[in-house]
Amino acid sequence: MDEDTPDETGPSAAGGPPDETAGSPRADGGTERADGPAEEVALDPWGSASVGDYADLFEEFGIEAFDDVADDVVDPHYLMRRGVIFGHREYDAVAEAMANDEPFAALSGFMPTGDPHIGHKLVFDEIIWHQEQGGDAFGLIADLEAHSARGMSWNEIDEHARNYLLSLLALGFDAEAGEIYRQSDNREVQDLGFELGSKANFSEFEAIYGFDGETNISHMQSVVTQTADILYPQLVDEPKPTVIPVGPDQDPHVRLTRDLATRVRYFKVTEAFASFELDDAERQLVRAAYDALAAEGARDDGEIDDAETDVRCEDAAAWLADYEPPAPADAGEADGDAPDTPDLAAAKPTALDKLRAGGKEPLRPRVRFFDRNATDEAFEALIEAVDGEKRVFEGHVDAFDLTRGEAESVAREVEIDHGGFGFRQPSSIYHRFMTGLTGGKMSSSIPASHISLLDDPEDGYDKVKAATTGGRDTAEKQRELGGEADECPVYELYAYLLAGDDDELTKTVYAECVNGERLCGGCKEQAAELMREFLEDHQEKREEAEELLAELDIDLDSDRRGTGGEH
Ligand code: TRP
Ligand code: SF4
Repeated sequence: MDEDTPDETGPSAAGGPPDETAGSPRADGGTERADGPAEEVALDPWGSASVGDYADLFEEFGIEAFDDVADDVVDPHYLMRRGVIFGHREYDAVAEAMANDEPFAALSGFMPTGDPHIGHKLVFDEIIWHQEQGGDAFGLIADLEAHSARGMSWNEIDEHARNYLLSLLALGFDAEAGEIYRQSDNREVQDLGFELGSKANFSEFEAIYGFDGETNISHMQSVVTQTADILYPQLVDEPKPTVIPVGPDQDPHVRLTRDLATRVRYFKVTEAFASFELDDAERQLVRAAYDALAAEGARDDGEIDDAETDVRCEDAAAWLADYEPPAPADAGEADGDAPDTPDLAAAKPTALDKLRAGGKEPLRPRVRFFDRNATDEAFEALIEAVDGEKRVFEGHVDAFDLTRGEAESVAREVEIDHGGFGFRQPSSIYHRFMTGLTGGKMSSSIPASHISLLDDPEDGYDKVKAATTGGRDTAEKQRELGGEADECPVYELYAYLLAGDDDELTKTVYAECVNGERLCGGCKEQAAELMREFLEDHQEKREEAEELLAELDIDLDSDRRGTGGEH
């Protein structure tokens, strides 16, 4: 694990892939990239932020394509419309809450290692947009991480933190409705991190982050802190769907947190058919057998009544023996959360064994509550809280009259009443990294490659004018062949930032570019002017935000003592 990576632009925001390949235009004027060259995929929160091929992230890590959930979002943000936000985990839960006016939250964090730049603006905008849609919004300063993983001194951290927060406020974050905090100052986050850390161990950190014997302990603590950040919105008021907008390099944290959120739960709710346990694939097979036989049995008296349909394990075994399960679809989610299509054929032998061993035991659908971390009182209270017919066993309760959803609610309520968290698994959305203006990645060590939100507007103008483009060598060729908007950092500036909500503008730039009607000189002039205006306006708003920031309950002049950092 290299802890001194040179690129400090904050990978969650926007370092950039040097080698993205071109793809087809989208109807909305965004870009969609075709498959890139085969390359090993790695998601390293502290490494260089580059992703060779976004499509690999779906297969390798079980990140889902944003397109799959886009239709559930009532009024999608332009970064969603343009494919800049390309992936997610369980964003459907957030979209649904948003559509139904139910509580939800958005949270992201920023390592104060340098100046905020246009890549961070994407994340600021994402948080703010969710706030405008009615969510509880949180922005945090990852100062513990900056100190322990990047060796920043507390003075540097204070200064950078101020700059991040001014930009967040200037872009429209409502700090009265939402919450801003620094990791080091949030006692609840620290306590939660401590609790979550007791469910994680070093081997796991080794596997997820490549930590080894040389990794400093505080760096590990900062990981635990981040998992607490991610779940923190659910401590406020109640558990709720929460989206974490980040770059894909942060996905390891999201996956770990989704796991920990489950591991601290008091009860695990599953579906069962008899006294024995089934895994997901076996359960599907037993359900198929049960449904087929119960429907048959029901024909006699016309009605399916679980309690009366007399389907026995051995009958189901006989049915299943002749059943040919459908072949599994492409093994999509390598280590995703719950593969949609478990391998049923592979599960058939064990399902058969279990059913045969069940013999004459009747099959009856039920929900099962396992005691995972509950106190004795909580387990007793759960038994009490289950309505209808139930059966109590050592370590689990079966309920016959509850749906899965009802059972989940009962489990959560009892847990919360008895000192537990009742967390939902957090959701996430992932945005593409911006390409550097000089072509390669955006990196703070190459000032011309990125635009800081603090850059003098004239410098911003100049940087855009000097940017690499996807244009041809001569104007003549450009007219003949058209430009390569998909390869063009300037086009990206329009799509990610300069066009704002104006889809017409991105579409026009794109179409004119690829048709050869647009030449790079004029195109860059237009972009450069928009950039200058944006920076002027943003910096004015930052000044206005000074007052807001001063009123907030956040200490930007910390009296923490410590080392000056590893320089
Ligand atoms: N690790 C993030 C980064 O590198 C910062 C961060 C800390 C964060 N806590 C978070 C991001 C919670 C999202 C959610 O910038
Ligand atoms: Fe890029 Fe504009 Fe040139 Fe097209 S015309 S390649 S979008 S700078």
